[in-house]
Amino acid sequence: MKQCEFLLKVAQIELLPSPPLLIERLIKNSVSEDINLKELEDIILSDPAITAQVLKVANSAYFGFSGQVATIKKAILLLGACEVWNIAFSAALHQQFSQLSISPYFNIIDFWHHSFTTGIVSEHISNLLGNSSQRQDSITIGLLHDIGKLIMATYFQEEFDKVIRLSSSSGISIIEAETEIGLLHTEVGKWLVRRWKLPQTIEEAVVHHHILVSECKPPQNGIIVCIANMLSKEFLQKGVDAMSLNIQDSPIQEKEYNMLLSICPWAEDILNRAREKAAHLVDKAKGMLSFLHGE
Ligand SMILES: [Fe+2]
Repeated sequence: MKQCEFLLKVAQIELLPSPPLLIERLIKNSVSEDINLKELEDIILSDPAITAQVLKVANSAYFGFSGQVATIKKAILLLGACEVWNIAFSAALHQQFSQLSISPYFNIIDFWHHSFTTGIVSEHISNLLGNSSQRQDSITIGLLHDIGKLIMATYFQEEFDKVIRLSSSSGISIIEAETEIGLLHTEVGKWLVRRWKLPQTIEEAVVHHHILVSECKPPQNGIIVCIANMLSKEFLQKGVDAMSLNIQDSPIQEKEYNMLLSICPWAEDILNRAREKAAHLVDKAKGMLSFLHGE
């Protein structure tokens, strides 16, 4: 993409959505030391659709409280504030984008499954690294890491469709096709993160989760989401039962994998330890996204 075209695209940032009030309030609530439980309950109750979705997930088979969770207060008590915050946040994000026209090449259900699984795997990796205090942060950075793809598929459909066509006709990855077209979802995601005034930790994860296009050594959050992104793709593509414990199933992943190990030799151990929990992590993500399905 020529520089002038790029600048024109940047000008279109103004067209990007402002954060919905509910998301803004949830982010504010989570930035404080501890989630304020009463405020969390009030935020969720302010939106009947989100309230219904949180209750649906809380009563889903995954959590084992079927038919027992009638109020948000009880959901917070039984599931914990973090789980309820994450369900509300992902439901609000889903609500924000589900009304818009999205490229026919974009599978929105797969997108949410990948994003949420990346969030759950990021949380697990943070725990393995001894950062359990950043647990909620970790889920959020994973959940939002690919938000630029959703923005491209919604607001830059022409470029997005070109990327998909180039990727499938040339057999290259999405990120490589984006590099050729000149519009990276990592950059587009960064525009949204800044427009929504989300925390720096989220921007780091969005910008640096593809080591191949990261211009410097990624910060810790970028590395965590990079590993989680690889694992999430591996888990969801292969199905956890068919796991061969081998990530080198395509040239692009191998390139990214080798680059990751050259920067962070410790990543291999983390990858292997997280794979041991693959079934549990995928189940958890599916359970927390059950509001997406008509069950
Ligand atoms: Fe990505």
